[in-house]
Amino acid sequence: MQFSHDVVIVGAGGAGLMSALYAKEGGADVAVVSKLHPLRSHTGAAQGGISAALGNEEEDHWLWHAFDTVKGSDYLGDQDAIETLCQDAVRTIVELEHYGVPFSRNEEGKISQRRFGGHTRNFGETAVRRACHAADRTGHAILHTLYDQCTRQNVRFYDEFQVLDLIMNDDGEACGVVAYEILTGEIHTFHAKVVCFATGGYGRAFKTTSNAHAGTGDGMAIMLRHGIPLEDMEFVQFHPTGLYRLGILITEGARGEGGILRNSEGERFMERYAPTVKDLAPRDLVSQCIYKEIREGRGIEGKEHVVLDLTHVDEEILDEKLPEISEFSRTYMGINPKEQPIPVAPTCHYAMGGIPTNADGQVETAERGTNVPGLYAVGECGCVSVHGANRLGTNSLIDLVVFGRRAGMQMAEEANNRARKFKLPDEPEKHTRDLLDGLLSNTEDEGEPTVNVRTDLQETMMNNVSVFRNDETTSRALDDLAACRRRARNVVVRDKGKQFNTDLMDAVEIGFMADYAEAIAASAKYRTESRGAHSREDYQERNDDDWLHHTLFYSDCEGDYEFDTKNVVINRFEPKERKY
Ligand code: FUM
Repeated sequence: MQFSHDVVIVGAGGAGLMSALYAKEGGADVAVVSKLHPLRSHTGAAQGGISAALGNEEEDHWLWHAFDTVKGSDYLGDQDAIETLCQDAVRTIVELEHYGVPFSRNEEGKISQRRFGGHTRNFGETAVRRACHAADRTGHAILHTLYDQCTRQNVRFYDEFQVLDLIMNDDGEACGVVAYEILTGEIHTFHAKVVCFATGGYGRAFKTTSNAHAGTGDGMAIMLRHGIPLEDMEFVQFHPTGLYRLGILITEGARGEGGILRNSEGERFMERYAPTVKDLAPRDLVSQCIYKEIREGRGIEGKEHVVLDLTHVDEEILDEKLPEISEFSRTYMGINPKEQPIPVAPTCHYAMGGIPTNADGQVETAERGTNVPGLYAVGECGCVSVHGANRLGTNSLIDLVVFGRRAGMQMAEEANNRARKFKLPDEPEKHTRDLLDGLLSNTEDEGEPTVNVRTDLQETMMNNVSVFRNDETTSRALDDLAACRRRARNVVVRDKGKQFNTDLMDAVEIGFMADYAEAIAASAKYRTESRGAHSREDYQERNDDDWLHHTLFYSDCEGDYEFDTKNVVINRFEPKERKY
């Protein structure tokens, strides 16, 4: 079947919904196509907060927020985009409140704000409370509110339609997507004036992750297959406090409310590494320090974890401001955080890199101004770049809504100003049909179950390309990934049916994973310095002379790839050594 809309947005998390809302308010006919029901999108798992310099608890300023974000990014974030983020953050929170987000309140009745890692007053002087929150279910509250608003505005939703391809015509214009309807097994074409990918992150490429099952990086892989580069893929965020072995997120807001990390000696070890901000240092640093403690033999009972101690925090705070993580600790670990510290270890959490865009969400293929006509990306799959080499906690939710809003307005303008859709190529669904037919025809003697390949891919990424990496580990990962790509083509799909064939979709996703996992490993091997979340054991220093630029990774998705560079915008804060 063929559907037709002005604007087609792929993905229904915070960025997809915010851009849909603004494109619709701008007068466009908008459809959101999502492989999940929108309320199951991963934004719903965001816990601790959304940053904006409201100054509700103490004086704050957007410029201090911008400084913290630039420093947090290890000076790789584009400063013009960061200024936009931090300035727009304030009005966007007010808008969200007006839409109905049920933010927690402080005693004066204003939106409650709490501390988060790397957020300070007065250019690093002291920690500031900047994270607006709805208890520790902030993403959940935002997702539900935006979905309500979109349905109220009659945005058209295609739920459980998994997009498998982008349609580009011979003139290099984006003109639609191809989607597989999970209920029926039908393949559909969506023809559009503009297409926007809001497909989220790729945490599922790592064995331990805080990401939902759907975080399989589909959008990034689809872009690569169309010759569009991925930017800064070496920068993978590991959140310091995942539940040990499970990876489930324990919000940084727990440390913002007074929680302390301790090693096997009971020592508050972050005092040694970051004497000013201690447990509220940025995530790259805290995750690296946890692994150092473990490597030096101070993991708890010789195991690969430390603990998050909340036993001294007021019960009232745990009940009112951190109810979700208290419940998670009880449910998954059998631990009551009021009585016992929680075992935690770093967990793959967020992609700093992704599809290169400008601040209006338009996809670029190289330096500024190289826009692909009709193509947009927002949210975690995109790279504006405001997070550079390391994102500060709470800056992801604000990124989704600030840049989602801007992209929505820009898409409406483009759709309103362009009378026609770009012409579709002949047989736009052919590639997808061939892909699915090929997978369905693989036989047991040539292939293996998808789960085998996925397990090996996740293990090699976790063992070789996580918090610490070096030339040897990244080379090993690349060899393993080349094998995974070959094996992914031959996986056996036992379910030959049409309805809810998740076996088939798993088989497609492992092919996507192999493509963008190569982007991560190859980019990590390529960048021979340490910066932010990219910590090279064989090149331990930051090297601004050679590496103060973004990396662009281009691939033919057959094993041949190349790199280019892109300038970092530095217009206000000169790079300095990062100390906390
Ligand atoms: O720790 C957290 O609540 C996560 C927040 C974020 O990733 O921004």
